[in-house]
Amino acid sequence: MRKILVTGGSGYIGSHTVVELVNAGFEPIIIDNYSNSSPEVLQNIEKLCHRKITHYKEDCNNEEKLRKIFLDHQISGVIHFAAYKAVGESVENPLKYYENNIGSLISVLKVMAEFSVNSIVFSSSCTVYGQPENLPVSEESEIIKANSPYGYTKQVCEQILIDLIQSNPKFKVVLLRYFNPIGAHPSSLIGELPIGIPNNLVPFITQTGAGWRKELTVFGADYNTIDGTCVRDYIHVVDLANAHVKALEWLQNKDENLGVFNIGTGNGVSVLQAIKAFEKVSNSSLNYVKGKRRAGDVEQIWASNTKAEKELNWKAKYTLEEAMEHAWKWQLSLGRKTEN
Ligand code: WQD
Repeated sequence: MRKILVTGGSGYIGSHTVVELVNAGFEPIIIDNYSNSSPEVLQNIEKLCHRKITHYKEDCNNEEKLRKIFLDHQISGVIHFAAYKAVGESVENPLKYYENNIGSLISVLKVMAEFSVNSIVFSSSCTVYGQPENLPVSEESEIIKANSPYGYTKQVCEQILIDLIQSNPKFKVVLLRYFNPIGAHPSSLIGELPIGIPNNLVPFITQTGAGWRKELTVFGADYNTIDGTCVRDYIHVVDLANAHVKALEWLQNKDENLGVFNIGTGNGVSVLQAIKAFEKVSNSSLNYVKGKRRAGDVEQIWASNTKAEKELNWKAKYTLEEAMEHAWKWQLSLGRKTEN
Protein backbone atom coordinates (compact mmCIF):
# COMPACT_ATOMS: atom_id res chain seq x y z
CA MET A 1 0.00 0.00 0.00
CA ARG A 2 2.06 2.94 -1.22
CA LYS A 3 0.15 5.87 -2.71
CA ILE A 4 -2.31 7.27 -0.18
CA LEU A 5 -4.76 10.04 -1.06
CA VAL A 6 -4.92 12.40 1.92
CA THR A 7 -7.98 14.65 1.68
CA GLY A 8 -7.54 17.86 3.70
CA GLY A 9 -3.83 17.03 3.78
CA SER A 10 -2.74 20.66 4.26
CA GLY A 11 -4.82 21.10 7.40
CA TYR A 12 -3.67 20.86 11.01
CA ILE A 13 -3.91 17.08 11.50
CA GLY A 14 -3.53 16.32 7.78
CA SER A 15 -0.18 18.10 7.43
CA HIS A 16 1.32 16.31 10.43
CA THR A 17 0.00 13.00 9.10
CA VAL A 18 1.55 13.57 5.65
CA VAL A 19 4.96 13.99 7.32
CA GLU A 20 4.57 10.77 9.35
CA LEU A 21 3.36 8.88 6.24
CA VAL A 22 6.53 9.83 4.36
CA ASN A 23 8.63 8.87 7.40
CA ALA A 24 6.94 5.45 7.29
CA GLY A 25 7.63 4.93 3.57
CA PHE A 26 4.22 5.81 2.13
CA GLU A 27 3.67 8.22 -0.77
CA PRO A 28 0.95 10.69 0.27
CA ILE A 29 -0.97 12.69 -2.35
CA ILE A 30 -2.75 15.77 -0.98
CA ILE A 31 -6.10 17.11 -2.13
CA ASP A 32 -7.18 20.25 -0.29
CA ASN A 33 -9.39 23.23 -1.16
CA TYR A 34 -7.49 25.38 1.37
CA SER A 35 -10.76 26.51 2.98
CA ASN A 36 -9.17 25.94 6.39
CA SER A 37 -5.46 25.87 5.58
CA SER A 38 -2.97 27.74 3.41
CA PRO A 39 -0.81 26.69 0.43
CA GLU A 40 2.31 27.93 2.31
CA VAL A 41 1.98 24.92 4.62
CA LEU A 42 3.07 22.75 1.71
CA GLN A 43 6.56 24.25 1.56
CA ASN A 44 7.18 23.33 5.19
CA ILE A 45 5.67 19.87 4.80
CA GLU A 46 8.13 19.30 1.91
CA LYS A 47 10.98 20.68 4.03
CA LEU A 48 10.19 18.15 6.74
CA CYS A 49 9.76 15.33 4.19
CA HIS A 50 12.88 16.30 2.26
CA ARG A 51 10.93 15.74 -0.96
CA LYS A 52 8.19 17.16 -3.14
CA ILE A 53 4.63 16.17 -2.26
CA THR A 54 2.09 15.73 -5.07
CA HIS A 55 -0.81 18.00 -4.26
CA TYR A 56 -4.05 19.25 -5.82
CA LYS A 57 -5.93 22.41 -4.88
CA GLU A 58 -9.35 20.86 -5.37
CA ASP A 59 -12.60 20.28 -3.50
CA CYS A 60 -13.48 16.73 -2.47
CA ASN A 61 -17.05 17.36 -3.57
CA ASN A 62 -15.81 17.55 -7.18
CA GLU A 63 -16.04 13.97 -8.45
CA GLU A 64 -14.58 14.88 -11.85
CA LYS A 65 -11.40 16.21 -10.26
CA LEU A 66 -11.23 13.22 -7.91
CA ARG A 67 -11.60 10.88 -10.90
CA LYS A 68 -8.66 12.57 -12.65
CA ILE A 69 -6.44 12.05 -9.60
CA PHE A 70 -7.39 8.36 -9.39
CA LEU A 71 -6.70 8.03 -13.13
CA ASP A 72 -3.26 9.63 -12.80
CA HIS A 73 -2.17 7.71 -9.70
CA GLN A 74 -2.35 4.13 -8.50
CA ILE A 75 -4.09 5.08 -5.25
CA SER A 76 -4.16 2.15 -2.81
CA GLY A 77 -5.83 3.82 0.15
CA VAL A 78 -7.46 7.03 1.38
CA ILE A 79 -7.24 9.02 4.60
CA HIS A 80 -10.24 11.35 4.72
CA PHE A 81 -9.68 14.47 6.83
CA ALA A 82 -11.52 17.02 4.67
CA ALA A 83 -14.40 18.40 6.75
CA TYR A 84 -15.45 21.53 8.61
CA LYS A 85 -14.90 21.10 12.34
CA ALA A 86 -16.11 24.11 14.33
CA VAL A 87 -18.80 22.91 16.73
CA GLY A 88 -20.27 26.39 17.32
CA GLU A 89 -20.33 27.29 13.61
CA SER A 90 -22.10 24.02 12.84
CA VAL A 91 -24.95 25.05 15.15
CA GLU A 92 -25.28 28.41 13.35
CA ASN A 93 -24.94 26.93 9.84
CA PRO A 94 -25.93 23.24 9.87
CA LEU A 95 -26.54 22.97 6.10
CA LYS A 96 -22.94 24.01 5.39
CA TYR A 97 -21.79 21.12 7.61
CA TYR A 98 -24.20 18.50 6.29
CA GLU A 99 -23.48 19.37 2.65
CA ASN A 100 -19.71 19.48 3.00
CA ASN A 101 -18.87 16.88 5.64
CA ILE A 102 -21.28 14.22 4.38
CA GLY A 103 -21.22 15.25 0.70
CA SER A 104 -17.44 15.13 0.41
CA LEU A 105 -17.26 11.67 1.97
CA ILE A 106 -19.90 10.38 -0.44
CA SER A 107 -18.01 11.83 -3.44
CA VAL A 108 -14.74 10.24 -2.29
CA LEU A 109 -16.43 6.87 -1.70
CA LYS A 110 -18.13 6.89 -5.12
CA VAL A 111 -14.85 7.49 -6.94
CA MET A 112 -13.01 4.96 -4.76
CA ALA A 113 -15.59 2.36 -5.81
CA GLU A 114 -15.14 3.20 -9.50
CA PHE A 115 -11.42 2.45 -9.14
CA SER A 116 -11.86 -0.50 -6.75
CA VAL A 117 -9.93 1.27 -4.00
CA ASN A 118 -11.20 -0.47 -0.88
CA SER A 119 -9.27 0.98 2.08
CA ILE A 120 -10.13 4.13 3.98
CA VAL A 121 -9.13 5.68 7.31
CA PHE A 122 -11.83 8.10 8.48
CA SER A 123 -11.20 11.06 10.77
CA SER A 124 -13.91 10.69 13.40
CA SER A 125 -14.23 12.30 16.80
CA CYS A 126 -14.98 11.58 20.44
CA THR A 127 -17.98 13.87 20.02
CA VAL A 128 -19.84 10.79 18.81
CA TYR A 129 -20.02 9.69 22.47
CA GLY A 130 -21.70 12.83 23.76
CA GLN A 131 -21.36 12.83 27.58
CA PRO A 132 -20.45 9.20 28.38
CA GLU A 133 -22.03 7.55 31.42
CA ASN A 134 -18.75 5.84 32.33
CA LEU A 135 -15.18 7.10 32.01
CA PRO A 136 -12.74 6.41 30.51
CA VAL A 137 -14.95 5.92 27.44
CA SER A 138 -14.36 2.76 25.38
CA GLU A 139 -15.21 2.06 21.73
CA GLU A 140 -18.07 -0.17 22.90
CA SER A 141 -19.73 2.75 24.72
CA GLU A 142 -23.18 3.76 23.58
CA ILE A 143 -23.32 6.30 20.77
CA ILE A 144 -25.94 8.90 21.63
CA LYS A 145 -27.18 11.55 19.21
CA ALA A 146 -24.47 14.19 19.02
CA ASN A 147 -25.27 17.59 20.49
CA SER A 148 -24.06 19.53 17.44
CA PRO A 149 -24.48 19.21 13.67
CA TYR A 150 -20.69 18.82 13.46
CA GLY A 151 -20.75 15.83 15.81
CA TYR A 152 -23.79 14.42 13.99
CA THR A 153 -22.00 14.54 10.63
CA LYS A 154 -19.30 12.35 12.17
CA GLN A 155 -21.93 9.86 13.35
CA VAL A 156 -23.64 9.80 9.93
CA CYS A 157 -20.31 9.35 8.12
CA GLU A 158 -19.39 6.46 10.42
CA GLN A 159 -22.72 4.80 9.61
CA ILE A 160 -22.28 5.31 5.85
CA LEU A 161 -18.90 3.54 6.03
CA ILE A 162 -20.30 0.67 8.11
CA ASP A 163 -23.21 0.23 5.68
CA LEU A 164 -20.78 0.14 2.74
CA ILE A 165 -18.96 -2.81 4.30
CA GLN A 166 -22.27 -4.70 4.30
CA SER A 167 -22.68 -4.06 0.58
CA ASN A 168 -19.05 -4.72 -0.38
CA PRO A 169 -17.19 -7.33 1.70
CA LYS A 170 -13.91 -6.20 0.12
CA PHE A 171 -14.33 -2.71 1.59
CA LYS A 172 -12.16 -2.04 4.66
CA VAL A 173 -12.55 0.84 7.11
CA VAL A 174 -10.73 2.23 10.14
CA LEU A 175 -12.61 4.82 12.19
CA LEU A 176 -10.23 6.87 14.32
CA ARG A 177 -12.12 8.70 17.08
CA TYR A 178 -9.88 11.61 17.98
CA PHE A 179 -9.93 13.17 21.39
CA ASN A 180 -8.51 16.69 21.57
CA PRO A 181 -5.57 17.26 19.20
CA ILE A 182 -3.08 19.86 20.49
CA GLY A 183 0.52 20.95 19.98
CA ALA A 184 2.65 21.22 16.85
CA HIS A 185 5.56 19.53 15.12
CA PRO A 186 8.68 19.85 17.38
CA SER A 187 10.45 21.66 14.50
CA SER A 188 7.85 24.49 14.66
CA LEU A 189 7.66 24.29 10.86
CA ILE A 190 4.01 23.20 10.93
CA GLY A 191 1.28 23.65 13.52
CA GLU A 192 -2.27 24.82 14.10
CA LEU A 193 -3.34 27.89 12.08
CA PRO A 194 -6.84 28.80 13.29
CA ILE A 195 -8.53 31.33 10.99
CA GLY A 196 -9.77 34.27 13.07
CA ILE A 197 -10.62 33.83 16.75
CA PRO A 198 -9.69 30.28 17.80
CA ASN A 199 -12.58 28.03 18.84
CA ASN A 200 -10.27 25.61 20.62
CA LEU A 201 -8.65 26.01 24.02
CA VAL A 202 -4.94 25.56 23.35
CA PRO A 203 -4.55 27.98 20.43
CA PHE A 204 -6.54 30.52 22.45
CA ILE A 205 -4.16 30.00 25.38
CA THR A 206 -1.03 30.42 23.24
CA GLN A 207 -2.44 33.45 21.40
CA THR A 208 -3.24 35.05 24.77
CA GLY A 209 0.26 34.22 25.98
CA ALA A 210 1.70 35.88 22.87
CA GLY A 211 -0.41 39.02 23.31
CA TRP A 212 -2.65 38.31 20.31
CA ARG A 213 -5.70 38.06 22.63
CA LYS A 214 -6.42 40.13 25.73
CA GLU A 215 -7.46 37.25 27.98
CA LEU A 216 -8.76 33.70 27.93
CA THR A 217 -12.29 33.07 29.16
CA VAL A 218 -12.66 29.74 30.93
CA PHE A 219 -16.08 28.50 29.80
CA GLY A 220 -17.57 27.43 33.10
CA ALA A 221 -15.98 26.74 36.49
CA ASP A 222 -19.02 25.19 38.17
CA TYR A 223 -18.92 21.70 36.69
CA ASN A 224 -18.87 18.60 38.83
CA THR A 225 -15.16 17.97 38.13
CA ILE A 226 -11.87 18.05 40.04
CA ASP A 227 -11.68 21.87 39.93
CA GLY A 228 -15.02 22.85 38.41
CA THR A 229 -13.72 23.19 34.83
CA CYS A 230 -14.32 20.78 31.94
CA VAL A 231 -12.07 17.77 31.52
CA ARG A 232 -10.72 16.57 28.16
CA ASP A 233 -8.10 14.16 26.79
CA TYR A 234 -5.49 16.32 25.05
CA ILE A 235 -3.37 14.36 22.59
CA HIS A 236 -0.24 15.57 20.78
CA VAL A 237 -0.96 16.01 17.07
CA VAL A 238 2.17 14.00 16.12
CA ASP A 239 0.97 11.06 18.22
CA LEU A 240 -2.38 11.39 16.48
CA ALA A 241 -0.65 11.52 13.07
CA ASN A 242 1.21 8.29 13.83
CA ALA A 243 -2.07 6.57 14.66
CA HIS A 244 -3.01 7.05 10.98
CA VAL A 245 0.14 5.27 9.84
CA LYS A 246 -0.70 2.39 12.18
CA ALA A 247 -4.27 2.38 10.85
CA LEU A 248 -3.03 1.97 7.25
CA GLU A 249 -0.79 -0.90 8.36
CA TRP A 250 -3.81 -2.46 10.10
CA LEU A 251 -5.80 -2.22 6.86
CA GLN A 252 -2.91 -3.79 4.94
CA ASN A 253 -2.27 -6.67 7.33
CA LYS A 254 -5.59 -7.54 9.01
CA ASP A 255 -8.39 -9.54 7.46
CA GLU A 256 -11.08 -7.67 9.40
CA ASN A 257 -13.20 -5.11 7.53
CA LEU A 258 -13.83 -2.63 10.36
CA GLY A 259 -11.55 -1.23 13.05
CA VAL A 260 -12.82 1.42 15.49
CA PHE A 261 -10.24 3.05 17.76
CA ASN A 262 -10.14 5.82 20.36
CA ILE A 263 -7.05 7.94 19.84
CA GLY A 264 -6.36 9.73 23.11
CA THR A 265 -3.78 9.61 25.90
CA GLY A 266 -6.14 8.01 28.43
CA ASN A 267 -5.65 10.98 30.80
CA GLY A 268 -8.32 13.52 31.70
CA VAL A 269 -7.05 17.11 32.05
CA SER A 270 -9.14 20.08 33.24
CA VAL A 271 -9.03 23.53 31.65
CA LEU A 272 -7.25 24.91 34.73
CA GLN A 273 -4.72 22.05 34.63
CA ALA A 274 -4.08 22.82 30.94
CA ILE A 275 -3.52 26.49 31.84
CA LYS A 276 -1.07 25.46 34.58
CA ALA A 277 0.85 23.27 32.13
CA PHE A 278 1.10 26.22 29.74
CA GLU A 279 2.25 28.57 32.50
CA LYS A 280 4.96 26.09 33.46
CA VAL A 281 6.39 25.62 29.97
CA SER A 282 6.12 29.32 29.08
CA ASN A 283 7.32 30.46 32.50
CA SER A 284 4.51 33.04 32.46
CA SER A 285 1.17 33.59 34.14
CA LEU A 286 -1.77 33.49 31.77
CA ASN A 287 -4.37 36.22 31.79
CA TYR A 288 -7.72 34.46 32.18
CA VAL A 289 -11.17 34.94 33.67
CA LYS A 290 -13.80 32.38 34.67
CA GLY A 291 -16.92 32.89 32.57
CA LYS A 292 -20.19 31.21 31.69
CA ARG A 293 -20.46 27.67 30.35
CA ARG A 294 -20.34 27.22 26.56
CA ALA A 295 -23.45 25.66 25.00
CA GLY A 296 -22.80 22.15 23.72
CA ASP A 297 -19.82 21.37 25.94
CA VAL A 298 -19.75 17.98 27.61
CA GLU A 299 -18.57 18.09 31.23
CA GLN A 300 -15.84 15.49 31.04
CA ILE A 301 -14.50 12.89 28.64
CA TRP A 302 -11.28 10.98 28.27
CA ALA A 303 -10.32 7.86 26.33
CA SER A 304 -9.80 4.27 27.10
CA ASN A 305 -7.04 3.79 24.49
CA THR A 306 -6.05 0.19 25.26
CA LYS A 307 -7.69 -1.12 22.07
CA ALA A 308 -5.50 1.12 19.88
CA GLU A 309 -2.44 0.25 21.96
CA LYS A 310 -3.06 -3.46 21.56
CA GLU A 311 -4.52 -3.79 18.06
CA LEU A 312 -2.77 -0.91 16.30
CA ASN A 313 0.43 -1.33 18.28
CA TRP A 314 0.20 2.44 18.79
CA LYS A 315 1.12 4.43 21.89
CA ALA A 316 0.89 8.13 22.72
CA LYS A 317 4.46 9.23 23.41
CA TYR A 318 4.23 12.95 24.24
CA THR A 319 3.17 14.34 27.62
CA LEU A 320 0.77 17.26 28.12
CA GLU A 321 3.68 19.53 28.96
CA GLU A 322 5.61 18.54 25.83
CA ALA A 323 2.51 19.24 23.74
CA MET A 324 2.11 22.65 25.41
CA GLU A 325 5.80 23.38 24.87
CA HIS A 326 5.52 22.57 21.14
CA ALA A 327 2.32 24.63 20.88
CA TRP A 328 4.05 27.58 22.55
CA LYS A 329 7.20 27.28 20.38
CA TRP A 330 4.96 27.21 17.30
CA GLN A 331 3.05 30.28 18.50
CA LEU A 332 6.31 32.16 19.11
CA SER A 333 7.41 31.26 15.57
CA LEU A 334 4.33 33.17 14.40
CA GLY A 335 5.47 36.18 16.44
CA ARG A 336 4.22 38.08 19.46
CA LYS A 337 1.73 40.91 18.91
CA THR A 338 0.26 43.79 20.82
CA GLU A 339 -3.22 43.02 22.14
CA ASN A 340 -6.06 43.38 19.65
C1 WQD B 1 -11.89 22.24 25.22
C2 WQD B 1 -12.31 22.78 26.57
C3 WQD B 1 -14.10 24.37 26.47
C4 WQD B 1 -11.96 27.58 24.46
C5 WQD B 1 -13.82 20.21 19.86
C6 WQD B 1 -14.54 19.26 18.95
C7 WQD B 1 -13.73 18.01 18.80
C8 WQD B 1 -12.39 18.37 18.26
C9 WQD B 1 -11.70 19.34 19.22
C10 WQD B 1 -12.02 18.31 15.89
C11 WQD B 1 -13.83 22.91 26.70
C12 WQD B 1 -12.83 25.01 27.03
C13 WQD B 1 -12.27 26.36 25.03
C14 WQD B 1 -11.92 28.75 25.26
C15 WQD B 1 -12.46 27.42 27.19
N1 WQD B 1 -12.54 18.92 16.95
N2 WQD B 1 -12.51 26.29 26.38
N3 WQD B 1 -12.17 28.62 26.60
O1 WQD B 1 -14.97 21.42 22.36
O2 WQD B 1 -13.60 19.65 23.61
O3 WQD B 1 -13.70 19.62 21.13
O4 WQD B 1 -12.55 20.49 19.34
O5 WQD B 1 -11.32 17.36 15.82
O6 WQD B 1 -14.41 17.15 17.90
O7 WQD B 1 -15.77 18.93 19.56
O8 WQD B 1 -12.42 21.40 22.26
O9 WQD B 1 -10.68 23.09 22.59
O10 WQD B 1 -13.02 23.86 21.95
O11 WQD B 1 -12.60 23.01 24.24
O12 WQD B 1 -12.68 27.33 28.41
O13 WQD B 1 -11.66 29.88 24.79
O14 WQD B 1 -11.79 24.10 26.71
O15 WQD B 1 -15.23 24.83 27.21
O16 WQD B 1 -14.18 22.59 28.02
P1 WQD B 1 -13.76 20.54 22.43
P2 WQD B 1 -12.14 22.91 22.70
